[in-house]
Amino acid sequence: VKVLTGWEDFHARWRGLRPPLRPHADVVAAINGAIEGADDHVLLLGATPELSGLGARLTAIDWSEAACAVIWPGDDARRRILRADWREMPLGEATVSAVIGDGSPCALASVDDLPRLFARLAAVLRPGGRVAIRCYLSPNAREPLTTVGAEAMAGRIGGFHALKWRIAMALADPAVPVVAIRAAFNALFPDRDALAAATGWDRRLIDEIDAYAGSPARFLFPDAAGLRATIPDSFTDVRFTPAGSYPLAERCPILTMTRRG
Ligand SMILES: C[S@@+](CC[C@H](N)C(=O)[O-])C[C@H]1O[C@@H](n2cnc3c(N)ncnc32)[C@H](O)[C@@H]1O
Repeated sequence: VKVLTGWEDFHARWRGLRPPLRPHADVVAAINGAIEGADDHVLLLGATPELSGLGARLTAIDWSEAACAVIWPGDDARRRILRADWREMPLGEATVSAVIGDGSPCALASVDDLPRLFARLAAVLRPGGRVAIRCYLSPNAREPLTTVGAEAMAGRIGGFHALKWRIAMALADPAVPVVAIRAAFNALFPDRDALAAATGWDRRLIDEIDAYAGSPARFLFPDAAGLRATIPDSFTDVRFTPAGSYPLAERCPILTMTRRG
């Protein structure tokens, strides 16, 4: 039985994606620094190639066949990928020294999945183990869609993907169906050539919004307090630290925390 999660098409489009949707080199360096001294067996949530080089040993987990086949750079003696659900990871208790990821919590479809994910991470991490995951966080006060539209037409949004994420965050509660992101985009920008002229973005890039048509996918964009509230007491030293200077970096901090001893 083929389960459609909405991620299938993402993997076909993935090569064309840019920060904030993929990790900037500064983000990779910050995640590497955050797990220093705890990198002997790293768990990567997703198939993100930019993070696949971290750790003395690395196990990546992604439930999508396409991610494992198309995005993952391949298994070798140091790294491997497993097809599994993060919420039910087939790893032994206290067997990993660090968990890393790029936008992983936001790829979950329901806010109820967040406590399940963090509980599972607490179980597979050794005492003293580290977590360093980039998160997409909505601002505390929701930004009006009309502000996002006006900023874009004034040329004040640094890239098309940053615009897409600002629209998503303006809608998020904290989940947002990706079809709603496209609908809001179409309502804000009925004339895509005018958006292209105002921003200098290629019309083909703008038309990528149509990849969201008919998709069953939902993303999560909690605010910092909302995400923090789903993290159990088994973690300490919980912080959100911005890294890098790519478009929207200020809303994409790295969540770091330590598994209590
Ligand atoms: C890590 S996230 C964000 C993408 C990332 N920013 C990148 O640059 O590749 C996307 C990946 O998470 C995977 N995914 C989403 N929910 C999952 C789950 N519950 N279990 C395992 N993999 C999941 C999807 O298949 C997708 O490949």
